[in-house]
Amino acid sequence: MIVTENKSGMICSNLSRDESGELCFAGMPLSPLAQKYGTPLYLYDEARIRERCRTYLGAVREAFGDRARVLYASKAASFRRLYEIMREEGMGIDVVSRGEIYTAVRAGFPLERAYFHSNNKTDEDIAYAMEHGVGYFVVDNEEELYAIDRLATARGIQQRVLLRLTPGIDPHTYAAVATGKVDSKFGSAIETGQADAITRLALSLSHVALKGFHCHVGSQVFDSDVYFRAAEVMLSFVAHMARTEGFLAEELDIGGGYGVRYVAEQPEIDIAENIREVGEFMTRRAEELGITLPVVAFEPGRSIVADAGLTVYTVGTVKRIPGYKTYVSVDGGMTDNPRFALYGSPYTILPVAADLPEETESCSVVGRCCESGDILQENVPLPPDMARGDLLACLTTGAYHYSMASNYNRIPRPPVVMLADGTSYLAVRRETPEDLVALDC
Ligand code: LLP
Repeated sequence: MIVTENKSGMICSNLSRDESGELCFAGMPLSPLAQKYGTPLYLYDEARIRERCRTYLGAVREAFGDRARVLYASKAASFRRLYEIMREEGMGIDVVSRGEIYTAVRAGFPLERAYFHSNNKTDEDIAYAMEHGVGYFVVDNEEELYAIDRLATARGIQQRVLLRLTPGIDPHTYAAVATGKVDSKFGSAIETGQADAITRLALSLSHVALKGFHCHVGSQVFDSDVYFRAAEVMLSFVAHMARTEGFLAEELDIGGGYGVRYVAEQPEIDIAENIREVGEFMTRRAEELGITLPVVAFEPGRSIVADAGLTVYTVGTVKRIPGYKTYVSVDGGMTDNPRFALYGSPYTILPVAADLPEETESCSVVGRCCESGDILQENVPLPPDMARGDLLACLTTGAYHYSMASNYNRIPRPPVVMLADGTSYLAVRRETPEDLVALDC
């Protein structure tokens, strides 16, 4: 993977310390924000989100001309303001539920640029998406294809679809996010002949307009070879279908997955350079295979929003167990960040007030839930005098945090605050105790 050099000395270039030593994000010191909005607090650097969109859009334009799309995989972070930003930036979106579609509708997002995924779309989901003019369905299986055809017939429309295929590639990432292998709940496998069968079925259905194919091999991927191999398998399949069925795919969506830097040991991927390489590879292979290269779609989620996010916590109990370790408890935890509990994901956690001193203490930063597994990170070097009321920042929390947050232990979800041009504004307000009982009958 081609990586970029970050000269800021921090893991992300939108982090800095001011002259007093306080940690700043998007140029803004964190303690006034914590004061104003309370903690735990999700912050987003709006300029960084826009910059990432532009990087992708610029890179695909260079690599494929106007025959490319970038779809923001909104499962990474889904709230109204983000869909507005995606609309303004000219991005498409990947949506996976009625809830995401509804949120996009409320943001005025043009849904003809939406691609509807999911391995189990109910008839209600399908009808809802059709009613709102969702551009493409990314079809997981034959059952879904029949349901789409039936509901499209009832509405008198032709629904555009891509077929999700599994190219049989191991993305070398953690198991929960590896999706491109044959043994997956997603898609139709090329290796087993199911991909051929579902293509033939799609071509035979009168209210389904087959536009092409989709694959997504995994998430938090650092091995660029994975993309070349996926592109190779998918292009060969396109060529195979052109030969055997006379069907030339107009569109090929190769999913998302570029890894991001959570800790200093991980690289920062140069997205533009990697897309350029993939573009060159796909253009050459299409030529060699004798097919017109379909419109190519990328579907990044994490790499659009991850390092545009940061979470601020207030320290509560600091528990020192002599001869063992120190637990630093914060006012959030697995409810706003379940990723360590679920995947053992690494994070960088920094003190807000001042940089780390020479002498640090290795701590477990834990949440407030009534569960031992409620850990944000272990072996975090922190100042040895951490105390109640201090602020901590967990970096790179823009992807799969707010969208995976829960109310476990009836803990209200934090607000989402956007930082733009040196000011801040609320995108999602903090939940209240009243919100927590709002659905109780
Ligand atoms: N397209 C499809 C079909 C996907 O399933 C995904 C992610 C993406 C695109 C975006 O992938 P990304 O660029 O964000 O890697 N909750 C897990 C991540 C689950 C990813 C699911 N699919 C985590 O917190 O690591």
